Amino acid sequence: MAGVTDASYRQLIKKVAPKTIVFTEFLSSDALAYGAERTLKMLQFDPEIERPFIVQIFGASPQKFLEACRVIEQIGADGIDINMGCPAAKIVSSCYGSALIRHPELAAELVHAAVNAVKIPVSVKTRLGWDTHETLIPFCKGLVAAGAQALSVHGRRYHDKFSGLANWEPIYALKSEVSVPVIGNGDIASAADALEKIGNLDGVMVGRGTFGNPWVMREIAQALQKRGVEGACLPARQGTLTVESALLPSPLSFIEKIPMILEHLDLSVRMKGEKRGVLEMRRHLSSYVKGFDGAKEVRMKILTLERAEEVREKLLSVA
Ligand SMILES: Cc1cc2nc3c(=O)[nH]c(=O)nc-3n(C[C@H](O)[C@H](O)[C@H](O)COP(=O)(O)O)c2cc1C
Repeated sequence: MAGVTDASYRQLIKKVAPKTIVFTEFLSSDALAYGAERTLKMLQFDPEIERPFIVQIFGASPQKFLEACRVIEQIGADGIDINMGCPAAKIVSSCYGSALIRHPELAAELVHAAVNAVKIPVSVKTRLGWDTHETLIPFCKGLVAAGAQALSVHGRRYHDKFSGLANWEPIYALKSEVSVPVIGNGDIASAADALEKIGNLDGVMVGRGTFGNPWVMREIAQALQKRGVEGACLPARQGTLTVESALLPSPLSFIEKIPMILEHLDLSVRMKGEKRGVLEMRRHLSSYVKGFDGAKEVRMKILTLERAEEVREKLLSVA
């Protein structure tokens, strides 16, 4: 998720639930092909922790896809995911993201270019459709014929943006029609949601449900494992990691969460420097700091702080 799943957050999620498949924020294939420094930096990952490491890209040029995919393979990623679901105006207006649903031939061409460029698996993340879900199955069949090795589907159409409830029914129907793993996405915020929604699918993808609550991934992973869903759908070189905090019972109180929040802050500062690291943690801090008396006041204060030490002190003052 853009602005969310940077290396620090991915590593945190992996510590909580080691079998989670983590995806990068979506990255411009044009920028990767061009060698833009800022975008290349976003490819940095810790191979000991983040595997399987999947890089998500967006764009509309098969040639740029080919070049970008080679860069991604060279840095040692385990897979490439193509974004065909983002509904943001500036993405859609360039024929990127969910706009590709209206251009199935170009979408298939992009998959083909990526698959031919690299040996690692290529998957696609998409939505139910543009203004109807009737196109989902033919659209996805075209992607699979072009070489897509897995599909994740957000149960909303482009027209829905983020409104209403996700509709998983068309995703279940898709699963019966294609031979590749199908992962469902939309409105999962708990293990109960995951169990209720997984149906005949191979996995679930969780976005906003992790905000301020990365621990939910452990609960979901444990619940799905009991159902026989292992979590890794793409061929993976599994990372190994043992962290005691992953074994803490849940639900956690805010005070129990503080060490992990501090670890997230440390990771962010280490990777991005103090100024940017603290600034980019604000979105997460705003989600973390809740569930206790006076949380609103602490949150307001924390969001004005610029130094990691000040944030740390404020968080510890709650304990
Ligand atoms: C802030 C934000 C950033 C997102 N960035 C991406 C992205 O880069 N790539 C992507 O495939 N989806 C992205 N999404 C969409 C989510 O992956 C997901 O499909 C959507 O939020 C619905 O799932 P959820 O209900 O679990 O959040 C983003 C969503 C949000 C809220």
